[in-house]
Amino acid sequence: MNVQLPNNLDAYWMPFTASRWFKDNPRIIGSADGIHYTTIEGHKLIDGTGGLWCCNAGHNRKPIVAAIQKQAETLDFAHSFNQGHAIAFEAANRLTEMTPEFDHIFFTNSGSEAVDTALKIALAYHQARGEGQRRVLVGRQKAYHGINFGGLSVGGIGLNKGQFGTLYPDAKHMRHTQILPENACKRGQPDHGAHLADDLEEICQTYGGHTVAACIVEPVAGAGGVFPPPVGYLQRLREICDRHGILLIFDEVISGFGRMGTGFAYQKFGVTPDLMTVAKGITNATVPLGGVFTTGSVREAFLTGPETMPDLFHGYTYSGHPLACAAAIATVDLYRDEGIFENAARMEQPWEDMLHGLQDLPGVIDIRNIGLVGAVQLESAEVLGTRGRAAFEKLWDEGVSCRPIGDSLAMSPPLILTEDDIGRIGDMFRRVLSSL
Ligand SMILES: Cc1ncc(COP(=O)(O)O)c(C=O)c1O
Repeated sequence: MNVQLPNNLDAYWMPFTASRWFKDNPRIIGSADGIHYTTIEGHKLIDGTGGLWCCNAGHNRKPIVAAIQKQAETLDFAHSFNQGHAIAFEAANRLTEMTPEFDHIFFTNSGSEAVDTALKIALAYHQARGEGQRRVLVGRQKAYHGINFGGLSVGGIGLNKGQFGTLYPDAKHMRHTQILPENACKRGQPDHGAHLADDLEEICQTYGGHTVAACIVEPVAGAGGVFPPPVGYLQRLREICDRHGILLIFDEVISGFGRMGTGFAYQKFGVTPDLMTVAKGITNATVPLGGVFTTGSVREAFLTGPETMPDLFHGYTYSGHPLACAAAIATVDLYRDEGIFENAARMEQPWEDMLHGLQDLPGVIDIRNIGLVGAVQLESAEVLGTRGRAAFEKLWDEGVSCRPIGDSLAMSPPLILTEDDIGRIGDMFRRVLSSL
C-alpha cells in the first residue's frame, strides 16, 4: 500500500520529540512486517527496538489482527463499571494462568496508567488495613515508570520531571545501580551493587519504616539506559520490604512477556513482588492495554467494606476494552504456539556475544545486556546525547533502528529474531561505530 505523507506536519504534537529536529528530516514509517519496518520512501530497516520495547512477536501478526477484527464485529465496546463482558474475564483468566503467584489483574490502557494504578492500590491497601499512615512511595534514580503524576514522582530521570514541579510530595529515591568502572562491560547481571538495596533500609531509618507504603523498581531498568540488576539486589529489596511491611512493586512494562526469555523477569530472578505492572508486549502493541497483577492477599484487603460500594474507587472507561482483551488473548496464544519466549532464551547468548564483540570499537565505554535487551554506551562529547543521536541517525540509514538514551544506544528487538539477524545488527553497529 502506498502511504502518502500529508503536507502539514504541524498539527500533530508528537510525544517525546524534538519537533524542529524531527521535521528537518522526518523519518516516516509506512509499513511493518516481521522484524522490519519500511519507510514511505521504501527504506527497509530492522526494528531494533521492537516498536518501543513492545512488538515482541514482530509486526503484522495475522492471528492477532484477525482476533481484533472479529472482536470489533462482535462487541466493539462495553464498559466494566458494575456490568461486564466475557472477553475481559477470559483475558484476566488467561493472563493470571501465566503467573501462578498472582490471582488478579486490574486492566488499564498503558504502562503509565498501570504504574499509577499500582501506586494507588498500594496506598489504599494500607489504608484498608488500618495503616493509612503509610504514604511514602520509594523509587530509584534513572527509573522510568511512565509519565503520569505517580509514575513520574517515583521515576528518576530528571529531564522528564523538571518541567512539572513538586508532583507526589512523599516520593523518595534510592540510588541507581550503574557502577562504573567496576561493572563496565559486564555480561548479564553485574557483580557489584547488591548493597545499593540498603538505600531502602536507610529511607526506613530516616522516615520510619511504618510510613513507607511501597517500593517500585523495574527489575531490569530499561528506558533510563538498560541496567540489569546486580546479583542479589532484588533479593535484598524483597527482604527489606518484608521486614518493614512494605509492598514491593515490579514494573514489568518492558521486562514482561518474554523479553527476559521467561514469561516475566520476576521468574528469571526468582524474586516475587506483591504487585506487578505490565503493558506493551501484553498485546504485542497492537491495541493499547496495561494491567496490574496482584496477589490474592493484596486483593483480599479490599473486600472488607460495604458490599454495595466499589472495592477500589478507581478505573478507566476503557479498562478491559474488548478489542484490547481480544488482542491480549491472541497474543499470549501466539507466544505459546510459536515458542517465542523460548526463542528469546535461545538467542540471549548470541545476542550477548554480538554486543560484547563491539567492545574494541572507538568511544565504547560500557556494554550492558540481559535477556533480549542491550545497550552500548558511547563516551559523551561536550553536549550529552550528541554522539548517541549521530549514531542513531547513521544506524537508521544503514538499516537498523535503535533508541538513543543520552549516549547509550538501547536495543530491544522482536523476540522472533534469528542468529542471522543478530549477525546483521552486529555488522551494522560495527560499521557505524567505526566511522563516528
Ligand atoms: C518500565 C516502564 N514503565 C512504564 C512505562 C510507561 O508505559 P506507557 O508508555 O505505555 O505509558 C514504560 C514505557 O516505556 C516503561 O518502560
